[in-house]
Amino acid sequence: MKYFLDSAKIEEIRYAYENWGIEGVTTNPRHIMNSGKPFLTVLEELASEFKHVSNFPISVEINPHLEDPKEMVSEGKKIAKLSDNFIIKIPCTESGLIAAKELEFEGIRTNITLVFSPSQALQPARIGAKFVSPFVGWKENSGEDTGQYIQDIVNIYKNYGYDTEIIVAALRNGKQIVDAAKTGAHIVTCGFEVYKNSFYHAFTNHGLDVFRKAWDETVKEEVMN
Ligand code: E4P
Repeated sequence: MKYFLDSAKIEEIRYAYENWGIEGVTTNPRHIMNSGKPFLTVLEELASEFKHVSNFPISVEINPHLEDPKEMVSEGKKIAKLSDNFIIKIPCTESGLIAAKELEFEGIRTNITLVFSPSQALQPARIGAKFVSPFVGWKENSGEDTGQYIQDIVNIYKNYGYDTEIIVAALRNGKQIVDAAKTGAHIVTCGFEVYKNSFYHAFTNHGLDVFRKAWDETVKEEVMN
């Protein structure tokens, strides 16, 4: 399963790419706002950072105020021109799906976002979107159980051999990453701290204390000193 970083902060994206081997980035308007930088500046930074890395998908969301498919397509084309790695992130509305169908037809890859049900996940696959992003955290926060919903999407895609890759999005902890992995989803996308926490277990640190103490109390030959 691939790990994408859900962020628009260049420093943490660089760190996660160099040290964790993340395989892509997903941004959204809130991440760009949180970066504290202007929209175009963030896009230029990302384009330049991964200029020499091919097949490194970076999802960039179109202006969320747009409702006319033609305007969505036009904005998607402008963003796509900035980098071969840019994937146009489009909301899962009827207009968004019409725009995504046109963009895919013209060879511009899309990521259909704000997906919350298996029925919403079907049309992105039918129109050949590169990615679909069903959200987990937002549903879990509202008290919904999301295990079956992601599994249903994975099973439906397998039933029909759809090529669209499933990015399980808005994950909040390691358990949700594992739940996504159990379904066979292709990709997860999480914030920087979520991955960092997923590498940690208190017993690992406890075990290190035990082993360090034993190491210090063991007689070592000269070559080991
Ligand atoms: C996914 O592609 C989204 O960018 C993301 O997961 C949105 O949710 P969050 O910012 O609440 O995590």
